[in-house]
Amino acid sequence: EVSKGFNGLDKVILRDARGSSAEVYLYGGQVTSWKNDQAEELLFLSSKAIFKPPKAIRGGIPLCFPQFSNLGPLDSHGFARNRFWTIDDNPPPFPTNTSSKAFVDLILKPSEDDIKIWPHSFEFRLRVALGPGGELMLTSRIRNTNNDGKPFSFTFAYHTYFSVSDISEVRVEGLETLDYLDNLQKRKRFTEQGDALTFESEVDRIYLSTPTKIAILDHEKKRTFVLRKDGLPDSVVWNPWDKKAKSMPDFGDDEYKHMLCVEAAAIEKPITLKPGEEWKGRLELSTVPSSYRSGQ
Ligand code: BG6
Repeated sequence: EVSKGFNGLDKVILRDARGSSAEVYLYGGQVTSWKNDQAEELLFLSSKAIFKPPKAIRGGIPLCFPQFSNLGPLDSHGFARNRFWTIDDNPPPFPTNTSSKAFVDLILKPSEDDIKIWPHSFEFRLRVALGPGGELMLTSRIRNTNNDGKPFSFTFAYHTYFSVSDISEVRVEGLETLDYLDNLQKRKRFTEQGDALTFESEVDRIYLSTPTKIAILDHEKKRTFVLRKDGLPDSVVWNPWDKKAKSMPDFGDDEYKHMLCVEAAAIEKPITLKPGEEWKGRLELSTVPSSYRSGQ
């Protein structure tokens, strides 16, 4: 089901039989909404998001490819998030998922201008699906289609913006004791000391070699997001807090209180593909009811 979203941009709406839904903009191949069967929005989308190229949409799940952040010659987070994707009506079979009928396949191939800034030919296939329990499942398949025999390397992230009731009441479990690179301190390497992550100021970190499962506990909402990932060893945790929020034109001054980015990523060790090779990175998001277990 394709319809018009903000600013006349095309979006695909997915619905499952139990009432969960998701919205995917062809601009950026970007999920902008994921609702549970109570019609509660689970992703953060800024009220100031600009739905106009070349600006990427602030919220939902931007795709960072072929470069995470400014770790290379391209603009921050690469260009996949501000290109127009197309619906892929004839995708090759996906080995995993999808018993659900609520899915869409998108594809991005580089334009001639893209090849000028990143001299490689690729096919990026994205499947967005709703699972039987309302889970949101994203599968990315990136193939090197270079015909000059050259490999290419890239970094990647599902830059997921979760909606939370109050950032000061949120904790993230699964990253304790791990090493991280602190983007606020010239990417110096530290080791996480706390028993879970809590938030009281700006955070911008790349956690390394993270487990396949990470949980975000929202005390006020009595909701836990469970993030499961495959092929994505790193996890970025980002909240701009008040000062940085004020400097972002497409982000409300107080919105940092209601969002948290936890991004399944491949950053520390870039992925290298030879011609004909394909990489796959999978993210599955679900929620479970929870109570806050302080100190656990
Ligand atoms: C995070 C980065 O992933 O994205 C941050 O770690 C960055 O450094 C943030 O500020 C937002 O990036 P952008 O380009 O969408 O404003």
